[in-house]
Amino acid sequence: MKDDVYEPKPHVSENAYVRSMIEYRKLYRKSIENPVDFWSDIAKQFHWETPIDRQKFWSYNFDTSKGPVYVKWLEGATTNICYNLLDRNIRLGLGDKIAFYWEGNDPEDYSRLTYKKLREEVCKFANVLKSKGVEKGDRVAIYMPMVLEIVVVILACSRIGAVHSIVFAGFSADALADRLVDSQCKVLITADSVYRGEKLLHLKAICDTAMDKAKEQGHEVKHCIVVRHLQRLNAFFESKTQNHNGCNGDAKNHYDETPWNDDRDSWWHDEMEDADPSCYPVWVSAEDPLFMLYTSGSTGKPKGVLHTVGGYLLYAATTFKYVFDYKPDDVYWCTADVGWITGHSYVIYGPLANGATSVMFEGTPFYPNVDRFWAIINKYKVNQFYTAPTAIRALMKYGDEHPQKYDLSSLRVLGSVGEPINPEAWLWYYKLIGNEQCSIADTFWQTETGGHVITPLPGCTPMKPGSATFPFFGVQPELLDENGEKIIGEGEGYLVFNRPWPGIMRTVYGDHKRFEETYFSRFPGYYCTGDGARRDADGYLWITGRIDDKLNVSGHLMSTAEVESCLTEHPSVTEAAVVSRPHPVKGECLYCFVTPNDGIEFTNKLASELSKSVREKIGPFAMPDVIQYAPGLPKTRSGKIMRRILRKIAINDRNVGDTSTLADESIVEILFKNRPENA
Ligand code: WTA
Repeated sequence: MKDDVYEPKPHVSENAYVRSMIEYRKLYRKSIENPVDFWSDIAKQFHWETPIDRQKFWSYNFDTSKGPVYVKWLEGATTNICYNLLDRNIRLGLGDKIAFYWEGNDPEDYSRLTYKKLREEVCKFANVLKSKGVEKGDRVAIYMPMVLEIVVVILACSRIGAVHSIVFAGFSADALADRLVDSQCKVLITADSVYRGEKLLHLKAICDTAMDKAKEQGHEVKHCIVVRHLQRLNAFFESKTQNHNGCNGDAKNHYDETPWNDDRDSWWHDEMEDADPSCYPVWVSAEDPLFMLYTSGSTGKPKGVLHTVGGYLLYAATTFKYVFDYKPDDVYWCTADVGWITGHSYVIYGPLANGATSVMFEGTPFYPNVDRFWAIINKYKVNQFYTAPTAIRALMKYGDEHPQKYDLSSLRVLGSVGEPINPEAWLWYYKLIGNEQCSIADTFWQTETGGHVITPLPGCTPMKPGSATFPFFGVQPELLDENGEKIIGEGEGYLVFNRPWPGIMRTVYGDHKRFEETYFSRFPGYYCTGDGARRDADGYLWITGRIDDKLNVSGHLMSTAEVESCLTEHPSVTEAAVVSRPHPVKGECLYCFVTPNDGIEFTNKLASELSKSVREKIGPFAMPDVIQYAPGLPKTRSGKIMRRILRKIAINDRNVGDTSTLADESIVEILFKNRPENA
């Protein structure tokens, strides 16, 4: 069957940076055949304190049999990314341009920040960090909501060469503790509390628990700086006469209860009060670390993906410009939380490197109403909107009338990220949100890739709903079969890359061996994404999803092993197996099979304890949808769990295929019989 193809609209193409596939192919060819010229041209717009040496422009080894894996770009050049994002843009005359329109959880709570003001705040906070003993190379942990201060912290770190390690403020205290210990962070920045929708989250209290736990594991966080976020909100609404819906009273009561340790904790506003508003940037090597960001590993131990300064700057800047076709007067909005890689590259670094004006949103798409996204697009006349399929699917459910209430005609580019977008959601996005006038950029990438690697370009690439289409500049994807043979032309296989682009990760923090084993051992000479992909007759790439033990719940990646180890830590549990099951909104959800210890009954109480423990050890987003009693698990004679069968049981599909290699075939029927009624 021939796929539907959606040609880009002429009004998008006319002014696009890349107007046709012919232009794309030309640029792409240059990026592959002559990467030095291609990236040098781009690097020219940025400031390099020590100039780039063309002889040492890039080098790498992807083949473990030839020595350690490494990637280097712009070796020897020095720069400062914060200088490039702020000072350089201010010099270009953008000082009074809005960097961020900030939109709070509550629609009445909003503000804005110019490039000049942002630099002033960044310099002040950089001096605060210095006063706490933070030096080049030191790690700073961040556990913050979507407030403007998080931008300030990130850029303050990069101004003095410190390495930021952001932990999404939806992770549990346990998960935060592990990350504090792994990265050996000196300082932790957080906020008192925050509302997400109607839910109040006590971030400082979570941080306290995490810091205690880290101490038990031998690592002491020396300083914790706390943004007074909730109290500001409280004062703001108190100054208004009308009674505020819900948030107010609770906020007031909570403030006084912010747990505190005078020896370690200080308020942001106290620290900032007398801080010096000028701070000379520290020039760092292009290959010095910029940040680390944890991503899910196959074991419980967190895996700190490390990115470096020079290559990441080039790549975040270039992908942002081309993939969103960002023009100087545009208003861009990415809904991702800064705690994820999408927030790093496309809320902070990419937009600011391009002198962009962005919307930053603290809340959720459902508060105060399910039309919030559309109201914000209308309010700021957003031109580029970037969100996740899980959000689109969730909003689709509420019907077409919500987006239809608003003028969304400012939109030109619609982005999607985090998981495969199903054609139904794609079409709704295209028709209802884009009014069939926008280009959709279904951007495939990973924490590890630093930026988009497979994506259409607006106004250029003819789109097929559900396909991430073609590689970005400098990226050379291949499909391999089980034996590592290249699949030429049409076919499906492992998605790998045969060479580095500037934004690819450099190592796993503190564990280079793990980096090599995770990404380069499966197919020597290739970076292995862990995703499968199909190439169709027109050369379009379609991501088919994870082919390792990872699963993707609402765009949050986690490994089955991580959840299983959490379940088996419970004293009443002998064994557990977790599989993913398709979910209409979340994309995938967790279906868990649990075998209790001999003599222990599987009760609802046990199931809810297990749910709670997953929530506490990983975070609320990892909550299992189903926990099923399993008197035994389907295993081969050598003891390997056959997850393929469990996946069938999870969807109640009796077509389980061949079970003859099982040690005990009868268990399959028993598990079908034991499916919970509500599953
Ligand atoms: C999945 C998020 C299909 C994929 C930026 C990848 C996608 C993982 C897409 C990385 C997409 C991300 N189409 N799948 N457009 N974007 N993925 O590290 O499985 O949180 O490996 O980075 O999300 O998730 P991560």
